Amino acid sequence: MIKKIEDLLSEIERLTASTPEKVEAARIENLSKKGAISSLMDDFRTVPADQKREVGMRLNELKQKATEKIELLKKRFENSGAASSDIDLSRTAYPIPLGTRHPLSIVKEEICDIFKRLGFSIAEGPEVEDDWHVFSSLNFAEDHPARDMQDTFFIQNDPQIVLRTHTSSVQTRVMERRDPPIRIICPGRVYRNEAISYRAHCFFHQVEALYIDKEVSFADLKQALLFFAREMFGEETKIRLRPSYFPFTEPSAEMDISCNICGGKGCPFCKYTGWVEILGCGMVDPNVLDNCGIDSKLYSGYALGMGIERITNLKYQVKDLRLFSENDVRFLEQFQSAH
Ligand code: DAH
Repeated sequence: MIKKIEDLLSEIERLTASTPEKVEAARIENLSKKGAISSLMDDFRTVPADQKREVGMRLNELKQKATEKIELLKKRFENSGAASSDIDLSRTAYPIPLGTRHPLSIVKEEICDIFKRLGFSIAEGPEVEDDWHVFSSLNFAEDHPARDMQDTFFIQNDPQIVLRTHTSSVQTRVMERRDPPIRIICPGRVYRNEAISYRAHCFFHQVEALYIDKEVSFADLKQALLFFAREMFGEETKIRLRPSYFPFTEPSAEMDISCNICGGKGCPFCKYTGWVEILGCGMVDPNVLDNCGIDSKLYSGYALGMGIERITNLKYQVKDLRLFSENDVRFLEQFQSAH
């Protein structure tokens, strides 16, 4: 019996295992209920009484050593697992690949920066708006045909709650709250029920500017427009104003700039006219001022609004509007900015 115990002990001491499965097999062979040590324990009953003490001690020692050995082998595999050996804690975390700003954000910041230099500050308003702020306050009569100019998304079929179709709604929000002088620039997302194509989308972005004070004139508007066009598209840029119509401005105009792609010589982008339209503008209609609690006999102002996608297209010649909302990194990573 003692001999058997000693043999098993030396066998266990020499035990090695190349895989965790082999460790488990060795455990079952030696330490399980039907394993070698258990069967020695069974034999213990037949040991003569005068040897029981000695054999018992040896058996206990064998069991303890076998358990320790198996634990040791198990640990070796736990410590050498892929997770721990593959992590190099001494490695620096750099370089972290930096993302780029979205082209629309870059251009939005640029537009806002230019107007900030003229003393404008940022104002924002909600995208889910009411009819008053989007239409009625801005002089769109109930049955005014101009309401048809914009295909509106209504919220839960409630004709009073809409997704704003233009950022002009922020004009009203600010004029209702503040006394003149007001000089704000309002960037934001707007929604129109348009079929999505390369040149139209159901949401896009606008920047609105509003200046209200005593004796603001069309000449002030024209000066601000010229400053903006030159800062945005270069010193050589020319502007031209064409009479237009918007319910909230009187008189109203649309502004063209000399095509910055061909320099005004004529190209497919400007349809060989040398000019491209970039924004709408005008003197704030006195009705709008009165609607917002500003005395139109005392104050006047100008407003202008432009599409950020349109300006971005002019700057970067993006031919398909859908690229702006597809989140394709190959497109987005081409735009770098100082912002
Ligand atoms: N809200 C107009 C639009 O979405 C753009 C616009 C035109 C804004 C003239 C103005 C403005 O402030 O004076 O088409």
